Amino acid sequence: MAAKKPRIVIIGAGMAGLTAANKLYTNPNSKESFEICVVEGGNRIGGRINTSELGGDLIEMGATWIHGIENSPIHKIAQEIHSLDSDQPWEFMDGFLDDPLTLAENGYELNPSVVNPISSFFDKLMDFYHGNVGEEELSKEEKECFLKISTSNCAAEKPSLGSFLQRGLDAYWGFKKEEEELKGYGSWSRKSLEEAVFAIRESIQRPYTSADDLFTVDYKAESEYQMFPGEEITIAKGYTSIIESIASVLPVGTIKLGKKVTKIEWQPNSPSEMEIGQDIRPVKLHFTDGSVFSADHVIVTVSLGVLKAGIRESSGMFDPPLPNSKIEAISRLGYGVVNKLFLELSPTHDTASEHSRKFPFLVMACHRPDSEFRNPKIPWWMRKTASICPIYEKSSVLFSWFAGKEALELESLEDEEIINGVTSTISSFLPNSSSDEMCNVNLNSVGIRNGRELKFSKVLKSKWGKDPLFLGSYSYVAVGSSGDDLDTLAMPLPQNTSHVSNSPHPLQILFAGEATHRTFYSTTHGAYFSGIREANRLLQHYQSNGV
Ligand SMILES: Cc1cc2nc3c(=O)[nH]c(=O)nc-3n(C[C@H](O)[C@H](O)[C@H](O)COP(=O)(O)OP(=O)(O)OC[C@H]3O[C@@H](n4cnc5c(N)ncnc54)[C@H](O)[C@@H]3O)c2cc1C
Ligand SMILES: *[C@@H]1O[C@H](CO)[C@@H](O)[C@H](O)[C@H]1NC(C)=O
Ligand SMILES: *[C@@H]1O[C@H](CO)[C@@H](O)[C@H](O)[C@H]1NC(C)=O
Ligand SMILES: *[C@@H]1O[C@H](CO)[C@@H](O)[C@H](O)[C@H]1NC(C)=O
Repeated sequence: MAAKKPRIVIIGAGMAGLTAANKLYTNPNSKESFEICVVEGGNRIGGRINTSELGGDLIEMGATWIHGIENSPIHKIAQEIHSLDSDQPWEFMDGFLDDPLTLAENGYELNPSVVNPISSFFDKLMDFYHGNVGEEELSKEEKECFLKISTSNCAAEKPSLGSFLQRGLDAYWGFKKEEEELKGYGSWSRKSLEEAVFAIRESIQRPYTSADDLFTVDYKAESEYQMFPGEEITIAKGYTSIIESIASVLPVGTIKLGKKVTKIEWQPNSPSEMEIGQDIRPVKLHFTDGSVFSADHVIVTVSLGVLKAGIRESSGMFDPPLPNSKIEAISRLGYGVVNKLFLELSPTHDTASEHSRKFPFLVMACHRPDSEFRNPKIPWWMRKTASICPIYEKSSVLFSWFAGKEALELESLEDEEIINGVTSTISSFLPNSSSDEMCNVNLNSVGIRNGRELKFSKVLKSKWGKDPLFLGSYSYVAVGSSGDDLDTLAMPLPQNTSHVSNSPHPLQILFAGEATHRTFYSTTHGAYFSGIREANRLLQHYQSNGV
């Protein structure tokens, strides 16, 4: 047979796509056996990895952390290429986030006696949820209670992270000993303060999951999610250094930027008699520039958000459309928006205070949505922003996470509106006057006695929600879906080619990417492993076919 090399086209130059290309290309037997090409719709590689810079500091617009360094392939690469040290300062280079200053709306500092009990109760709930219960940590009553609230559910309500936490908070009041003194401050009762601290912790969970609403996060599926052991760290030379290293083995020209796929034509049925024997490539890729490219295999690594849009549109990304099992899995799985906001503080004119500049790790407790004491100066899109902090102890760059509706809103706001919103929010948490004895918050070292003295010179924010190449940030297992849906998404097409080797056109469309990994979804290492998995699927196929 006139051996035309099988052509493999990978759609997307993010972690999954480049890892698959790397694996295929570096396999000792495959260098000469395949034609490999990566087509990327954007004008850079990395996808949801997007390292940038602000005020001389390295920052991450997307993936930020190595979630546990032990056994992490990302950490291994980072070590090999010496990416864990740098002369330039980088995001979260120190452990300073251990010392928060918690303020309540309208100017009260919350001391640890208010924050700690409810906060550690929240930790216990989350430990239980993640299944890593240090038995000795939980009292017998707490254990029984948590079990009950995690399993008890009426048919009307599917157990979610949100419902578990809500029942947890209800149970908390039952556990409380004889009330010492229900002492609050001003507009705050002790109970409302504790609720607000609990709500801060819930707000912090939103960007972890990417869900707008924790009531949409499936309770059970989360127990399948795995983390690596060891500490969580950021990458000194930036996450992009990992991507560049993975891409560096590919010959120049392998990656084609600015090539956005609009349609994937494939052949779900066995080829007709006529086609058999003809040396045709079964998949045709159509691009925005009008060009068409044929392939024997494509590995689709576009985000779950892009897939959701691709099955929704009447025109459709797949022709013929994907099988129902896939469409259902794609529809059921959750995919949310998380954005990062960076603000650079202006240098003050007062050089003395500049030297001592030290913005705190500010944690903000807000009044409930129905409270009459809500400060109108705090815009709605800031109310679930749990914290504002410098990216390391003395950095002039401040940072906040946004999720869900608030994250989308952030994308459409002008820089000016963001600066005004953040400034008036901060001032709503600062004491009215520094002479007020009850409010001993001292932010003078930052040069701020009230928010009006805060000046920002630059705003940088990510825009994952509206960018058509991502349409969101990462996936989660939504109520109504399960880990099986992640596996279904990972299955290659056409289906049911159990005797793959006899089928003339097997493995036409393969799926990789963060959302196709059952236990590591939503992460860079999940994307990495999915790329390896699909490269191996092709390598094994050709090995067993003697190529
Ligand atoms: C704000 C944020 C914070 C995060 N934090 C962390 C973290 O701390 N730790 C962690 O492990 N993970 C984190 N993640 C998740 C991590 O970034 C992703 O899971 C991972 O990078 C996804 O890689 P991927 O290859 O699956 O997808 P992508 O990176 O999305 O790659 C897919 C590629 O396909 C391209 N594409 C899309 N449509 C088309 C088309 N039609 N034609 C051609 N190309 C197309 C896209 O441009 C993209 O480059 C974060 C993500 C975000 C957004
Ligand atoms: C600060 O002023 C606001 C509005 O004037 C008021 O509601 C609040 O109670 C004051 N805070 C303190 C700590 O006095
Ligand atoms: C990636 O980072 C750049 C800044 O370096 C930013 O302009 C761009 O919007 C970022 N991409 C997304 C999708 O957030
Ligand atoms: C594949 O097999 C499953 C059951 O084994 C069946 O439900 C499905 O319809 C089949 N799909 C195709 C495309 O033949």
